[in-house]
Amino acid sequence: MAAAVTAAVSFPSSKSTSLPTRTSIITPDRITLKKATFYRDASAVSGRVVSIRAQVTTEAPATKVEKVSKKDEEGVVVNKFKPKNPYTGRCLLNTKITGDDAPGETWHMVFSTEGEVPYREGQSIGVIADGEDKNGKPHKLRLYSIASSALGDFGDTKTVSLCVKRLVYTNEQGEIVKGVCSNFLCDLKPGAEVKITGPVGKEMLMPKDPNATIIMLATGTGIAPFRSFLWKMFFEKHENYKFNGLAWLFLGVPTSSSLLYKEEFEKMKEKAPENFRLDFAVSREQTNEKGEKMYIQTRMAEYAEELWQLLQKDNTFVYMCGLKGMEKGIDEIMSPLAAKDGIEWIDYKKQLKKAEQWNVEVY
Ligand SMILES: Cc1cc2nc3c(=O)[nH]c(=O)nc-3n(C[C@H](O)[C@H](O)[C@H](O)COP(=O)(O)OP(=O)(O)OC[C@H]3O[C@@H](n4cnc5c(N)ncnc54)[C@H](O)[C@@H]3O)c2cc1C
Ligand SMILES: NC(=O)c1ccc[n+]([C@@H]2O[C@H](COP(=O)([O-])OP(=O)(O)OC[C@H]3O[C@@H](n4cnc5c(N)ncnc54)[C@H](OP(=O)(O)O)[C@@H]3O)[C@@H](O)[C@H]2O)c1
Repeated sequence: MAAAVTAAVSFPSSKSTSLPTRTSIITPDRITLKKATFYRDASAVSGRVVSIRAQVTTEAPATKVEKVSKKDEEGVVVNKFKPKNPYTGRCLLNTKITGDDAPGETWHMVFSTEGEVPYREGQSIGVIADGEDKNGKPHKLRLYSIASSALGDFGDTKTVSLCVKRLVYTNEQGEIVKGVCSNFLCDLKPGAEVKITGPVGKEMLMPKDPNATIIMLATGTGIAPFRSFLWKMFFEKHENYKFNGLAWLFLGVPTSSSLLYKEEFEKMKEKAPENFRLDFAVSREQTNEKGEKMYIQTRMAEYAEELWQLLQKDNTFVYMCGLKGMEKGIDEIMSPLAAKDGIEWIDYKKQLKKAEQWNVEVY
């Protein structure tokens, strides 16, 4: 059976959207590949909406999937490309996805891989910025969570996408400092080369169980692996995976103009209202009843009992990605709930981690 899925990728507010002008993968209006047909809606280009139609043969899974440790998952490639011998891809598209009034810029970018960098949802790649460090040595690689599903944004397994925050800060001397790799990436123009290492990481691989409850907790660009999961769940059709569980995303950002991939997620919710829940925490615009800043854990607290119930099921998987500080705040929400049932949260969390039901990649 063949099925078609249409996904709208929206790039809301960039003045400087860099859509590809010459690549083998995208032509100005439409390209056709073996397994997928992609349309870029001409009327939407100026409004920066790219419509993608992926067509993949499907079949529903027959039985419940057995739990296999993500460390033993077959076919997961790690470190195919090392820093001494990186893969050289090309930037196909790079666009700012935060509003002009947002505090800081985040960009969504797509690189060609020609299928040479085979990754799974939840993995990361390394990027080596052009140029040299202050000692005249090549820059060290920086890791970035992959923001596209394994099929890639164009559905042909020939691209990898990232969601990158441009790091700019003022140092103790009052000078403005630009982060090396994030600025290199956010400034990349279509056609430019990019040195890629990896893929790496098994911590954030998705559970195989299509009926699982998957709770995703993201701050800022920590959304990247979850965009990857959610595309696989709601925008694609796969022979061996048809998601029919509950995906619940909590996303924390500073302002509504920095909400990442909002339109995509809302579209998923329209498509699968029974299977997808979406909660935003906009820290500088929203507060709770006590007037406290709306962090992701503050939003989660509104559903505390429900979350605690879900965490007691053996097919609930929690994934957390983004700022390091977020885990402590989430522990503070869970501890009293567990304590009400006479359970020590930190011990319980250890068990969840051992069972690969509590998965953390914070930085
Ligand atoms: C597994 C993993 C996945 C990641 N995924 C992503 C992702 O998807 N998207 C993303 O944007 N990033 C991600 N990162 C972070 C990314 O790897 C880089 O660290 C980030 O882009 C900054 O790199 P840079 O080269 O621009 O900055 P650098 O040039 O390396 O500068 C960073 C250094 O600047 C200093 N610094 C930073 N901020 C301040 C400050 N406010 N005041 C004073 N000093 C400061 C610190 O010493 C810091 O180490 C990830 C990190 C890891 C480990
Ligand atoms: N796998 C990884 O390790 C990985 C992947 C992707 C990104 N990252 C890193 O994650 C960070 C995300 O930064 P960003 O700039 O993209 O995010 P951002 O847009 O600044 O959003 C972060 C949000 O989290 C809030 N926040 C701050 N402290 C918090 C805390 N203790 N608990 C909960 N929420 C908190 C912020 O609120 P206020 O600012 O209003 O206080 C803001 O709303 C970056 O440093 C990025 O490099 C890591």
